[in-house]
Amino acid sequence: MHNNGATAIAIDGPAAAGKTVVGNKLAKKIGYRFLDTGMMYRAATVVALDAQADFNDIDSLLDAVEQFEIEARSGANGETLILINGKDITSSLRSHDVDSQVSAVAAIARVREIMVAAQRKLAADGGIVMVGRDIGTVVLQDARPKIYLTANLETRAKRRFLEMKDLPEHPPLEEILTAMRMRDKIDSSREASPLRPAYDAVIVETDNMTVEEVVHRLCELVNGVTS
Ligand code: DC
Repeated sequence: MHNNGATAIAIDGPAAAGKTVVGNKLAKKIGYRFLDTGMMYRAATVVALDAQADFNDIDSLLDAVEQFEIEARSGANGETLILINGKDITSSLRSHDVDSQVSAVAAIARVREIMVAAQRKLAADGGIVMVGRDIGTVVLQDARPKIYLTANLETRAKRRFLEMKDLPEHPPLEEILTAMRMRDKIDSSREASPLRPAYDAVIVETDNMTVEEVVHRLCELVNGVTS
């Protein structure tokens, strides 16, 4: 499939709704680049954890984040790679520590300003599928189509559990569920760019859909915009 019309596609939604897997597959199908913006907030969290910043103190977190250059790139499979001061730290971004602290870092308005500026720069040449929480509402308001991918909390926690079950430190399902409920709450109730569908987003509920079915649905939506 080739797509001559839309140049930026926004996919937003809560944690473990399938945005990364589906967004990456969609990007490959239509020959677009892919950017998972959650990885950038995770990188800021790794930096703050490494600097032993005080997570209850915004200035302490900002000091840590502003000292480092966070760069997002595409890997060989279209996946998002993150470099901090030139070093690839992608493999440390999905740890349990990062999972439990990232919402606090992502809620800081100044951190968001830095990330949004970098994301818009990466999208400037078009041909990009960008996934996150505020892509349709803030970062790329002209994106077409805008998709809001979601599923109920239990489905999403089970998906994350299955993803993590082969890692050396893999938390029980109940713990993932509790942490995810907390993250949903912080992400959608924060003052700076809260998680919500854009008014012109298409909501796709993925509870009873396979990855391939979701990708197929998204291709239909992209075709609807460009045909
Ligand atoms: O999608 P994820 O789980 O990797 O996102 C990590 C955190 O970053 C999550 O708490 C929400 C936040 N985030 C955000 O606020 N804005 C984005 N565009 C992407 C992620």
